[in-house]
Amino acid sequence: MRIVFATGNAGKMREIRDILADVDAEIFSLKELGLKSEAEETGETFAENAVIKVREIYEILKERGEMAGTVIMADDSGLCIDCLGGAPGVHSARYMGHDTDYKIKNAAILDQLKGVPEEKRGAGFVCHIAAITEDGRVFGAEGEMRGSIAWESRGKEGFGYDPIFYLPEFGRTSGELSEEEKNKISHRGKVLRMMKEILSKEGIITIRK
Ligand code: IMP
Repeated sequence: MRIVFATGNAGKMREIRDILADVDAEIFSLKELGLKSEAEETGETFAENAVIKVREIYEILKERGEMAGTVIMADDSGLCIDCLGGAPGVHSARYMGHDTDYKIKNAAILDQLKGVPEEKRGAGFVCHIAAITEDGRVFGAEGEMRGSIAWESRGKEGFGYDPIFYLPEFGRTSGELSEEEKNKISHRGKVLRMMKEILSKEGIITIRK
């Protein structure tokens, strides 16, 4: 059995391999299959976008006759800020332009939240993972890592919005956590563990004891 994770992000792939290490399956990235996702993320929810991504790859592998014994997974994630009505949300990657440096995006968010008191700075990194099986059944799981928007950008670890995402229980931003620390609490990790549970209960994957 094999699991194909539809992402081109090397950091995500490391986290995914780590969490799926006890699954009786070979794990492949899109790159390893010589594939690239070109689907436009036109969905209005994380769930819709994750399903768009798995379906795109499903159609390609089905067409090639390569879906036997395969589960495809994809994630969609983003930063949802309470006092901005959940923005940037599904638009997180495209917020202020796809190629705009995160130093600029993060500074703009800190600026928008200038004067917003601590108790109103709540935010969450949300992740949805979709999985599709060889017979076209789709499964979904969603979860969140809660925190708040920091008062200043801090830390060089992680990526994207990590330097402005403050985790009170650590007294640090997620940009100040090591990869190992972040993987233990991350939205993606949480949801991937949920998905592992769902697929194992359905008898689609087997967890090694
Ligand atoms: P995706 O790769 O299409 O799911 O886009 C996710 C976007 O949300 C990224 O480009 C980041 O802007 C943001 N994001 C999601 N997860 C994280 C995280 O763990 N740290 C920082 N930014 C994140």
